[in-house]
Amino acid sequence: MPKGTRLSGATVLITGGGSGLGRRMALGAARRGSRVVIWDVDAERCAAVRDEIRAAGGSAEAQTVDVTDREAVKAAAVVAGPVDVLVNNAGVVSGRQLLDATDEAIERTMKVNVMALYWVTRAFLGGMASRRRGTVVTVASAAGLVGVARQTDYSASKFAAFGFNESLRAELRAGKTGVNTLVVCPYYIDTGMFDGVRTRWPRLLPILQEEQVATKVLDAIAAGRRKLVLPPIVNLLPALRILPVGVFDRLMDVLGVNRTMDHFTGRPAGTRGRPPAGPGT
Ligand SMILES: NC(=O)c1ccc[n+]([C@@H]2O[C@H](COP(=O)([O-])OP(=O)(O)OC[C@H]3O[C@@H](n4cnc5c(N)ncnc54)[C@H](O)[C@@H]3O)[C@@H](O)[C@H]2O)c1
Repeated sequence: MPKGTRLSGATVLITGGGSGLGRRMALGAARRGSRVVIWDVDAERCAAVRDEIRAAGGSAEAQTVDVTDREAVKAAAVVAGPVDVLVNNAGVVSGRQLLDATDEAIERTMKVNVMALYWVTRAFLGGMASRRRGTVVTVASAAGLVGVARQTDYSASKFAAFGFNESLRAELRAGKTGVNTLVVCPYYIDTGMFDGVRTRWPRLLPILQEEQVATKVLDAIAAGRRKLVLPPIVNLLPALRILPVGVFDRLMDVLGVNRTMDHFTGRPAGTRGRPPAGPGT
């Protein structure tokens, strides 16, 4: 197993660090002694997380960056300097059926959830490889392991994110670079991104808590893990593809996976993430 990246004294850059899981990971990393660099397209939230960390005695910088803007990413990476841990966390969802989603929403999902992985990772990987250490984290999703109704944009983008990580892992291993990769595939998390979703079997497939997921991601980075699926039983879902398609689809129905989005409401218009809720991890 590759070596983990020690968080104490490390520089940890988190995209989409202004709310939800990103914010929790930022707070948790700072508490573990990391210098945290928060990137978010939302300037106010980005600065709020930086101030929250500093107020607690931690070290943090905030940069307002749209990760889909290649040139902005390159320029911001120069300002950020070398990083030890890069967490590709920024993500969006349209949550509409294919014919109901706007062209713009579909394109945005692909740009934020897929294309930005290239721009941001390419901006930092060279530095990590030359120092022969570091971890690149890709926050994918359980929706990157099995497709879910009303998520054609999101699921496809997260399958791509999963594939991006797997190919990058192969490249880095082949080159013996000393840089680790970690892919994170959580089921739904209570961040507000998927407000209204319901789970049919809450004991088997629970809605996860932000803090719980953030803690596990930080532990996985430190331990040098390469894959984190939450809850672990979700790992079994893609293996069911070995069954005939009709049986697979029926099992997804029984598990309630395809009905989770029936009551999805998304975020209230004009908001990004929930108001910060407590100090967290
Ligand atoms: N919430 C869930 O149920 C769930 C489940 C599995 C995976 N995920 C993934 O976890 C990650 C975090 O999601 P979350 O639930 O915390 O959502 P969130 O909406 O609370 O946080 C996402 C953050 O990304 C930022 N962002 C969006 N577009 C951006 C851009 N172009 N440039 C920079 N920042 C941008 C937003 O401003 C926001 O602060 C996402 O990749 C998401 O797909 C979420």
